[in-house]
Amino acid sequence: MKKIVIIGASSGIGRRMAIDFARVGCRVGIAARRSEPLGEVKSLYPSNVAAMTIDVTAPDAVKRFYDLIELIDGMDIFINAAGTGFADPDLDDSRISTTLRTNVDGFARLTAAAYRYYRDTANVSQGQIAAITSVAGTKGIGVAAAYSASKRFQQSFIDALEQLAYQQQVNVAFTDIRPGFVDTPLLAGGRDYPMLMTVDKVAPLIETAILRRRRVYTVDYRWRAVNALWRLVPQRIWRHIGLNW
Ligand SMILES: NC(=O)c1ccc[n+]([C@@H]2O[C@H](COP(=O)([O-])OP(=O)(O)OC[C@H]3O[C@@H](n4cnc5c(N)ncnc54)[C@H](OP(=O)(O)O)[C@@H]3O)[C@@H](O)[C@H]2O)c1
Repeated sequence: MKKIVIIGASSGIGRRMAIDFARVGCRVGIAARRSEPLGEVKSLYPSNVAAMTIDVTAPDAVKRFYDLIELIDGMDIFINAAGTGFADPDLDDSRISTTLRTNVDGFARLTAAAYRYYRDTANVSQGQIAAITSVAGTKGIGVAAAYSASKRFQQSFIDALEQLAYQQQVNVAFTDIRPGFVDTPLLAGGRDYPMLMTVDKVAPLIETAILRRRRVYTVDYRWRAVNALWRLVPQRIWRHIGLNW
């Protein structure tokens, strides 16, 4: 059975994927900052789940990540689902800093560490790096400037690693999952989000896309249409569009 490491598995999409993969017999290494919710996931499938507290912004994050891989004795799939974000029309200094430290610095360090793991281990089977980015990475979104820019960074980082893997002949596949709005603690704040989806709906779609090694997968079909439209809008028009979330 597959060995899967999920960073950001204490709540929302990552937590649900951890439970689903453990239920079908995968060996799952889970990480996030909060130990209690990680322990709850582990208690559901104790023999299939290993947990490790990791703060992706901390200096020891990469070391702890490698320790977690050892705990489950290898890693076939790496899923980076850790993230944070805010609607932030006031451009609050600490919110910008938290978003960039988590979604840019932490994301890049952990994803690069996963790449080095596949580069440096003599895996016969192909490894996989999957990340939950967002439709927000398609365009700069005024009310969530740091978040949308951080998601664009994540998408470019994966594109870059894919090119590097080709150059260095590293046997790894890349999957970029781009959900629209999903009802998780990330969105807590009482706003009305359009085309809001449940974790129950998106998790099975995301899991299938990862297992099928889709390169880019936007969830769901409505967000695929919206995202395609966004891409066609030039910046001189985009700047007049008032997205108000
Ligand atoms: N919800 C949406 O509408 C939506 C849409 C598109 C994309 N996404 C992306 O999907 C991913 C999962 O988000 P979600 O919606 O499931 O939100 P969530 O329920 O808030 O989950 C976020 C996860 O990231 C972890 N995390 C946050 N900061 C961390 C840090 N410094 N170190 C380690 N782990 C950290 C959290 O755990 P701890 O707090 O325990 O550390 C939690 O497990 C994120 O990348 C998010 O940007 C979400």
